[in-house]
Amino acid sequence: MDQLVISGGVPLQGKVSISGAKNAALPLLCTTLLTSQVMTFTNVPNLKDVNTLLKLLASMGVVIEQDQKQIQLSSSQSIAPFASYDLVKTMRASVLVLGPLLTRFGEAKVSLPGGCAIGERPVDLHIKGLQAMGAEIEIEQGYIVAHAKKLKGARIFMDTVTVTGTENLMMAAVLAEGTTVLENAAREPEVVDLAQCLINMGAKIKGHGSDVITIEGVTQLGGTAYSIMPDRIETGTFLVAAAATGGDVLLQGTRAHSLDAVLDKLAEANALIDVTEDSIRIRMKGVNHGVSLRTAPYPAFPTDMQAQFMAMNAVAHGTTVVTETIFENRFMHVQELRRLGANIEVEGNSAIIRGVPKLDGATVMATDLRASASLVIAGLIAHGETVIDRIYHLDRGYECIEEKLSNLGANIKRRVTEVH
Ligand code: UD1
Repeated sequence: MDQLVISGGVPLQGKVSISGAKNAALPLLCTTLLTSQVMTFTNVPNLKDVNTLLKLLASMGVVIEQDQKQIQLSSSQSIAPFASYDLVKTMRASVLVLGPLLTRFGEAKVSLPGGCAIGERPVDLHIKGLQAMGAEIEIEQGYIVAHAKKLKGARIFMDTVTVTGTENLMMAAVLAEGTTVLENAAREPEVVDLAQCLINMGAKIKGHGSDVITIEGVTQLGGTAYSIMPDRIETGTFLVAAAATGGDVLLQGTRAHSLDAVLDKLAEANALIDVTEDSIRIRMKGVNHGVSLRTAPYPAFPTDMQAQFMAMNAVAHGTTVVTETIFENRFMHVQELRRLGANIEVEGNSAIIRGVPKLDGATVMATDLRASASLVIAGLIAHGETVIDRIYHLDRGYECIEEKLSNLGANIKRRVTEVH
């Protein structure tokens, strides 16, 4: 299992290019199941999660041609609407094949995703939504077994805002008979990116980006070429790394307007931020004040940025409170940050962080994707050497992170360790 070894204390300086968004790429690649024509995607990030999804699509019979950051997919051949436990268990987002398979082929058998490090994360709202559209769904031996001659448009209210749930139902609705209205829909930019691609394919969608999305079903969709949006969480992670190390970094190929809540908090922490259409420059004005925050669905502060801010707050001036409202078990980085000397107390779904003058390097363990990013930031701040174990989590969602950080002056390297 690979490790990252970081010698901290260097302010990050320079330019970094932001990759395509993981959370946009995953649903977008599933749109290939909605058409017999070729889909072409550019700006595809080279990530483990993307490769897992490509493996899953290939296992169903999708023909995939990959050339660097461009991928062509075709599901003109016969498709087996089956997603095995082995492939789904490694990545929850695999459940995104359910809506497209069911609406185009009338049947699907998709493994339930099972447990997940950051909380229970059920898929009941995906299932309820499809049932409201007329699907017959049974859970058999850990699989969601779904049938529907033809899905029918419906008014669907989701009592919790769910990102992949909204995406799954939107993909199901584009080929359903009649009109579907998704209420309390997720407003995340990745949902908007998916809607835009579906519209390019011929879908009729209105209201994406708001909490009511209206989809008028069409009989068929065509192929299209689509460039995946920049990753706002990768962007946010580099912004926090720059601020926490007191650096000066220009992030290129990103969209500042998808990060308003994050930029607002960084400014509150005392960062100076300059944005253009496709870049963000960040540097600190003086001492890092840290920031209290509360996660909530977009456009509020993203849960996927909570852990990174906590690492920055660990060495900020004063006490801050971070409250997690989306996932029930998303503080696993706290005990690892404590190993580096952070003073953090957890009370229910809030963490109270009392800033300390410095962190000291130690060996820590990554527990999930964003917790890993938090430990990398902590390692960049800490004095001495930090070794991060189990970095396969990081490879799920950050493209060439050590290379990008090295280019910004960080002392970071990957150590390949033998598996016994
Ligand atoms: C997506 C993102 C993930 C991000 C999360 C919240 C992708 C691939 N992943 O995950 O990075 O952290 O949004 O912004 O886009 N819930 C239910 N029933 C359901 C579905 C969800 O109760 O059927 C609950 C979840 O347990 C959680 C909340 O809804 O408490 C939000 O989860 P959701 O938005 O669905 O997360 P994902 O789409 O899995």
